Amino acid sequence: MDDTSLDNLIDAYDAAPSPALAKVILLQLAKRQDANRSIAYLDAASSELDQDEAGFVVRFLVDSDQLKAASALYLSVIESNPGFQDDELNALFDHHSADNAESNRKRLRVVEKPDLADVVNLDRVRAETTDFSAVVGLDKIKKQIDKKIILPFQKPSLFSRFRKKIGGGVLLFGPPGCGKTLLARATAGEVNASFFNIEISDVLDMYIGESERKLRAIFDKAREETPSVLFFDEIEALAGKREYARNSSTSNVISQLLAELDGFAQNNAGVLILASTNVPWAVDPAFLRPGRFDRMFFVPPPDKVARQGILEHHMKGRPSTPDIDFALLAKKTSGYSGADLANLVEMAADEAIDASIEGGEEVPISFDHFKDALGESRSTTIEWLTTARNYARYSNDGGRYDDVLDFLKKHGR
Ligand SMILES: Nc1ncnc2c1ncn2[C@@H]1O[C@H](COP(=O)(O)OP(=O)(O)OP(=O)(O)O)[C@@H](O)[C@H]1O
Ligand SMILES: [Mg+2]
Repeated sequence: MDDTSLDNLIDAYDAAPSPALAKVILLQLAKRQDANRSIAYLDAASSELDQDEAGFVVRFLVDSDQLKAASALYLSVIESNPGFQDDELNALFDHHSADNAESNRKRLRVVEKPDLADVVNLDRVRAETTDFSAVVGLDKIKKQIDKKIILPFQKPSLFSRFRKKIGGGVLLFGPPGCGKTLLARATAGEVNASFFNIEISDVLDMYIGESERKLRAIFDKAREETPSVLFFDEIEALAGKREYARNSSTSNVISQLLAELDGFAQNNAGVLILASTNVPWAVDPAFLRPGRFDRMFFVPPPDKVARQGILEHHMKGRPSTPDIDFALLAKKTSGYSGADLANLVEMAADEAIDASIEGGEEVPISFDHFKDALGESRSTTIEWLTTARNYARYSNDGGRYDDVLDFLKKHGR
């Protein structure tokens, strides 16, 4: 369609507006990359757009930095069309389902108002610290953290005298629920540092508005408040996205993160940077280069002794009978993660509460309650270990997964 025909259409629309006409004009303007004029036709056209057209227009608006309009259109499309499937857009707007309209609206508010006060207010991500005493077992990794993270952090001058570079980040990886987040919090507590727990989805939400600026603000805040620990939870959410980040904005966020890590412009002394992931093999190798997350620590599932310790740890302060055989429970929970074990305790407690309500008097948690709970629970680490074994065998770059292989060998899997 040439420009004259388009002008004629616009005249026709002005004389007699209709959704069908609005759609034709909108698509023409989007093809011409004319964001300013296309906005006027969005509302009228949105009910006429099919999935592909809607996806095309939303992308065009994102690329033209019309984020408010993009998210409004996206929301109206998924609300009127719950089957809408566009992984890239869903990821961009962090939508997982259309039936969650209320939370969608909340996100939209974030999108609409990139509030700068919120940029600097990091209390939301400030999390409580604990210390190593709350982490049962994992002695080997605690020692590693002590030697390779905490010591250089506390004695920077010693290390710089020996020309040892300090800084960079540490990536904790392992099956879900085995204590990565817990370890990060405990590390912060051990060095008595402020702890900022950043979920990548937060950063990506921010991205829709002011993401790079917010990322920078997070780092600035951490540099201001040294000693501090910045913890990027589930980093693969970001690293994995780059593969299909079609517009450049997502990779801008990644570049920003890498630049902050590299400390080109800034001095990261006193800021400890940790990250965690369940899928290290999905992490973009750019993150693993020297000076970035160049040290990887495997956080394994708890062994038998640790399992017993974790069960006892979570039973502290709960009414219980002395007949509970924790050693036997530990033996029967091979492959359980710390979270699985914590959950087992919760289930046993629920049984006891039910019994208390039924009987009209307090029934303490007993071994029988645990046996019932055991029947209904299952371990969640086996699947992860199976996947990890394949990566360890076939793409063990630089011995990255040696610890995983050692673990598997030791446990005869
Ligand atoms: N070593 C441990 N000692 C005590 N409790 C543990 C331990 N490991 C896990 N837990 C329990 O399991 C819960 C989940 O652990 P955490 O959140 O640290 O796991 P994660 O490795 O970060 O999991 P994800 O990969 O799902 O984020 C903890 O809050 C704690 O209750
Ligand atoms: Mg975690």
